[in-house]
Amino acid sequence: MTPITPHVALVTGAAQGVGHAIASRLLAAGFAVAISDLTLAGAQAAAHKLDPTGEKTLALKLDVTQTVDFEAALAAILKRFKALQVVVNNAAVTKTTPVLEISAEEFSQVVSTNLTSVFVSCQVLGKYLADSGYGRIINLASLAGQNGGTATGAHYAASKGGIVTLTKIFAREFGAQGVTVNAIAPGPIDSPMVRSVAADKMEKIIANIPVRRVGSADFLGDLIVLLASEDAYFATGATWDVNGGLFMR
Ligand SMILES: NC(=O)c1ccc[n+]([C@@H]2O[C@H](COP(=O)([O-])OP(=O)(O)OC[C@H]3O[C@@H](n4cnc5c(N)ncnc54)[C@H](O)[C@@H]3O)[C@@H](O)[C@H]2O)c1
Repeated sequence: MTPITPHVALVTGAAQGVGHAIASRLLAAGFAVAISDLTLAGAQAAAHKLDPTGEKTLALKLDVTQTVDFEAALAAILKRFKALQVVVNNAAVTKTTPVLEISAEEFSQVVSTNLTSVFVSCQVLGKYLADSGYGRIINLASLAGQNGGTATGAHYAASKGGIVTLTKIFAREFGAQGVTVNAIAPGPIDSPMVRSVAADKMEKIIANIPVRRVGSADFLGDLIVLLASEDAYFATGATWDVNGGLFMR
């Protein structure tokens, strides 16, 4: 197979937490990375931290609820790096409102940020990748999408379950055009989000995890590097569980 280099990746929600770690591992693996988030300032701060010279990064404002932001991000990436091969749909909001207290508006907002965004990203960026004949899309789902969630809300869990389904649909859609689409379903990861959502429950959470540890964001980044490689052409439509044994198929 002809090597396709250099690889260029876009990570959404990369200003902090898991997305930041993913961008860091992609950079370490030699990718140029478009680091995007809700605000340009957040994306710029993260890009500067990971790549002070700015040679291998491009900071972008990409609000994943806005189709035009995906279109503008694609144009900016093509202008700067001349290509895009890898898309990591990572941005999300995590809410914990009890199910009977979630308003229809709040439900829609979470689904829009977490799920509709993946649909739009796969349409807009996936079409570009498919037309170019090569691509890797990796969507951040969650254990909550598989087991209904424990610490997180119904809207969050439902949105993450939807990502698992969309992953299969787009994997089938783009399979013949060299584009793979996979999801990762992490359990609790050592991250600011988990520490804030479950600050007072960490000991209990860890005691319930078969491996008795929370997960590593760097490992998620390394798994994404693996799924983003050219050799990963046969892995598609799958949801990769990284949950310390909390959910076994
Ligand atoms: N941390 C965990 O334990 C865990 C477990 C399972 C799944 N996940 C998934 O991993 C991903 C990252 O999680 P995290 O813990 O780093 O979350 P986080 O809340 O720390 O970070 C989410 C990032 O997304 C950004 N974001 C929010 N709304 C956005 C929007 N409309 N447009 C663009 N960016 C937006 C935020 O600014 C933030 O930088 C999420 O998809 C989450 O559901 C995380």
